[in-house]
Amino acid sequence: MITCWVFIATSLDGFIARQDGDISWLTNPAYTIASEDFGFAEFYSTVDTLVMGRKTYETALGFAEWPYAAKRVVVLSHKTITIPPHLTTNVEHMTGSPGEVAKKLEASGARHVYVDGGQTIQGFLRAGLIGEMTITTIPILLGGGIPLFGPLERNIYLKIITSKTFSNGFVQTRYQVSV
Ligand SMILES: NC(=O)c1ccc[n+]([C@@H]2O[C@H](COP(=O)([O-])OP(=O)(O)OC[C@H]3O[C@@H](n4cnc5c(N)ncnc54)[C@H](OP(=O)(O)O)[C@@H]3O)[C@@H](O)[C@H]2O)c1
Repeated sequence: MITCWVFIATSLDGFIARQDGDISWLTNPAYTIASEDFGFAEFYSTVDTLVMGRKTYETALGFAEWPYAAKRVVVLSHKTITIPPHLTTNVEHMTGSPGEVAKKLEASGARHVYVDGGQTIQGFLRAGLIGEMTITTIPILLGGGIPLFGPLERNIYLKIITSKTFSNGFVQTRYQVSV
């Protein structure tokens, strides 16, 4: 069976980016703590596959360096996506419901999957496919933007595994998702 995990940062009012996709508030140097990656490297080392929405993929393509080297990246989109030549061995395109995607991933060998992008996370949550979420809350109110969470047909209950604070005001909570 595959396990799907979320590791994401959000503003206190629940946004992962401004409406235009801006995430500069997240990478503000004022938040930097020397030698602190907020647990990302440890988490990242445990995943074999990333599944991300087309919009998150496009953001990542705009970074100076491809941030997901040496991992299989599956991009979800209902349309054709552009994969630069240097990424064709790592990046692939998939479509389908979260359940269908999970089945295809499992059949192709994925085991520990990092799900990223607001709409994509919401789809996997609604389908009951997310096992754990690590959410880092940034002490900022944006007033609007792209939401981490969205409408649900039923409550989703969460159990806190750990919660910690950082000297820059980040609060990181790891939740187990009960289905
Ligand atoms: N704060 C953070 O830590 C963090 C982390 C990740 C991303 N972000 C930011 O969040 C923003 C993107 O989030 P988002 O919620 O707008 O979008 P997203 O989840 O990254 O992408 C949404 C798109 O993914 C495709 N998609 C999702 N599920 C699908 C499925 N089951 N089958 C086929 N296609 C599917 C669709 O693409 P099509 O429209 O092409 O069909 C949909 O429009 C970016 O600005 C990114 O930088 C922030």
